Amino acid sequence: METIETKLKILQQKREIIEKGGGEKRIQKQHQSGKLTARERIEKLLDKDSFVEIDAFVEHRSIQFDMQYTKAPGEGVVTGYGTIDGRLVFVFAQDFTTIGGSLGEMHAAKICKVMDMANKMGAPLIGLNDSGGARIQEGVDALKGYGEIFLRNTLSSGVIPQLSVILGPCAGGAVYSPALTDFVFMVSGISKMFITGPQVIKAVTGEEVTPEELGGATAHNEKSGVAHFISQNEEQCFEQIKKLLSYIPSNNLEDPPYKATTDDPAKIIPELNTIIPVDPNKPYDMKDVIKLVVDNNDFFEVQPLYAQNLITGFARLSGHSVGILANNPKHLAGCLDINASDKAARFIRFCDAFNIPLVTFTDTPGYLPGVAQEHGGIIRHGAKLLYAYSEATVPKLTVITRKAYGGAYIAMCSRHLGADQVFAWPTAEIAVMGPEGAANIIFKKEIENSEDPITTRQQKIDEYRNNFANPYQAAARGYVDDIIEPAATRAKLISALEMLMSKSEKRPAKKHGNIPV
Ligand code: HXC
Repeated sequence: METIETKLKILQQKREIIEKGGGEKRIQKQHQSGKLTARERIEKLLDKDSFVEIDAFVEHRSIQFDMQYTKAPGEGVVTGYGTIDGRLVFVFAQDFTTIGGSLGEMHAAKICKVMDMANKMGAPLIGLNDSGGARIQEGVDALKGYGEIFLRNTLSSGVIPQLSVILGPCAGGAVYSPALTDFVFMVSGISKMFITGPQVIKAVTGEEVTPEELGGATAHNEKSGVAHFISQNEEQCFEQIKKLLSYIPSNNLEDPPYKATTDDPAKIIPELNTIIPVDPNKPYDMKDVIKLVVDNNDFFEVQPLYAQNLITGFARLSGHSVGILANNPKHLAGCLDINASDKAARFIRFCDAFNIPLVTFTDTPGYLPGVAQEHGGIIRHGAKLLYAYSEATVPKLTVITRKAYGGAYIAMCSRHLGADQVFAWPTAEIAVMGPEGAANIIFKKEIENSEDPITTRQQKIDEYRNNFANPYQAAARGYVDDIIEPAATRAKLISALEMLMSKSEKRPAKKHGNIPV
């Protein structure tokens, strides 16, 4: 008969084996490739000693390809819960040292269990992905596993925040779980995401590309827009995750975390009065405006490298978390294009789902003209922006700093799409189109028939600018609630935001809408 001491010893030995994952050699290889192990990652991400593991003893039951002889401690994934800044989170971390972190039936079952728990408990789910994809030996059981994860990702969307952290390869169908989640984090050098890798691409299309060029952190942060955050190492990545969580609630029924600030809510910011260049065609950096307005100049940008003509990110106004969207005249003159529309629409929908008020800064000459944009579907993509703003019921505040022309005026959270308060600076130009374009069309005959077309054209442009390129026409109709001194922007926004805290806006009951995708 075994004594309890012996039983405890056996338990401890089993646990030690599980905690070693794929063993010392593979752990060394993991470290040599610049990566932490699954357990090291969890330890660094969560509050000290807060992690509670679930399902450490789960084993696969595959017998194909002699798999009954292959031990996979922990089934290649560490799962459980813990806290970040004292708030409950659920986490899974794929263990690349164990069969390459590949996903089989039971590996997926472990992930699904924490996904279900996160959903029931109303806590964020954080997935640390480092995997060779579907475990080839398990065939359709592995595919079933992915399908069940995708289903849960979708059902949890808009209920709990879901964060995906790519910390190694993420190939094939494995990329679709991250793509279904709210935010994707990547680390330079170690993260890779692609549907088909370089070898398959070479065989099919003849294109030669390195894994890094194809699906590295830069590719997905700058070009594809699949990722939202890039960092230089895993520690920096975990800091980004903690910072993001500090702005967002744990579920859709909670308000975002409030953080008291010493930054004066009524602060007057004289620099804002001179931030707009006298020449209307000269750019400036809208990020400077945002940083001057928000608490402690602290702006946490989302997708900083993608579609830089439109800025998205989180900040606080008098302690209240807000989602900020802004055109940036520094890039593409702040035009709206396909990528900017997609980026903005997705950010708006996240904020709306999680009760985070939206603050929009507008300075855009309009939608970007061009055949590539038209054939790429700017109509369809641009419509997403209209849809997302119109659908959002959180408090919506808009500040028009300079240009707000045509469709882009409407799209950038105008009152017509349901903005609760629209402020314009005296430098605002709100009209159907810019003075040059408008004068060329409506005064075409007068310009052509004039003895001095150049002077006449300029006169007509000036005339149009004086009469229409200002905020007063829109304010006269109540489309703009107030024309404010730029220096008072912070104070005005905070006052409006606090007035809107009890906002309640209902939408007609329906199964779901049909956003143009
Ligand atoms: C089973 C796998 C595996 C997999 C890796 N391994 N991927 N085992 N199924 N998918 C094992 C390797 O055999 C090896 O075992 C260990 O993990 C480490 O892998 P290495 O190849 O030695 O590592 P590395 O050189 O770093 O290369 C990593 C890799 C490569 C780039 C991820 O392993 C790879 O290309 N794997 C296959 C990727 C892939 O095509 N996956 C299927 C995608 S299809 P040992 O015992 O030697 O340590 C898919 C469909 C899902 O996912 C669809 C869902 C809708």
